[in-house]
Amino acid sequence: MSKQTQTARKTVKDIAAAKGATPLVMLTAYDAPTAAILDPHCDILLVGDSLGMVVHGLPSTVGVTMEMMILHGQAVMRGSDQAMVVVDMPFGSYETSAEQAFLNAVRIMKETGCQAVKIESGAYAAGQIAHLVERGIPVMGHIGLRPQAINVDGGFRAKGRTGDERDRVVAEARAAADAGAFCIVIEGVAEDLAAAITAEVSCPTIGIGASAACDGQVLVTQDMLGLFDWTPKFVRRYADLREAIDKAAAEYAADVRARRFPGTAETYSLRKQGS
Ligand code: KIV
Repeated sequence: MSKQTQTARKTVKDIAAAKGATPLVMLTAYDAPTAAILDPHCDILLVGDSLGMVVHGLPSTVGVTMEMMILHGQAVMRGSDQAMVVVDMPFGSYETSAEQAFLNAVRIMKETGCQAVKIESGAYAAGQIAHLVERGIPVMGHIGLRPQAINVDGGFRAKGRTGDERDRVVAEARAAADAGAFCIVIEGVAEDLAAAITAEVSCPTIGIGASAACDGQVLVTQDMLGLFDWTPKFVRRYADLREAIDKAAAEYAADVRARRFPGTAETYSLRKQGS
């Protein structure tokens, strides 16, 4: 029998240990070469269903399928070897019942090899989370602004502006934590609400547009690399890849049209056979 190599990836224990300690670093990843670049810098790589928008050009995440998540999850697993890889459960893959959530989460884990799944968890999803965790599937919750619910909300709107909404977000956090989520993404809420939730739940919180009061941060990689003209207020751009790609494509096009590319360095020369 061959000796199994132990995984060197971060585990749920490592993530739990970060509560109140050094902030957790999470970025989204959707392909193998980008995952390989991000992997050494991150505790968690999230194969987010934002891929529908930032990779496939969809207007929202609602159209994302299981097949899309699995294909991108496989690529990210191939490109990385130390970060925990978490794959989003797409809209429609878990809401009906705990059984539906379990079967789809098992499929994602078996076909990608990822370590955990993420569920956009309204308070109703506590049953799904508990069912998965009890059966061996680590679940990351996602509360506050839940992009899969934009058609109910009427757009991408920050949450917790009214007392009722604030109570709802706190209830979502409690439900996810009590059901056994190992970590909770808080999206699009004000600092005091993120701070109150982070102080209350025992698992780490990871913020996106939720202030520095969380136990970690996540950004959509394409946003922070500056691939888009418009990004939400909470994004900090660490590069301007849009301009770099535009410039490179323009130079390439000019070289091809002027016959400067390919040059001799990029051209094979004929060698005589036997020499
Ligand atoms: O899909 C995604 O990329 C996400 C992050 C924004 C947290 O859920």
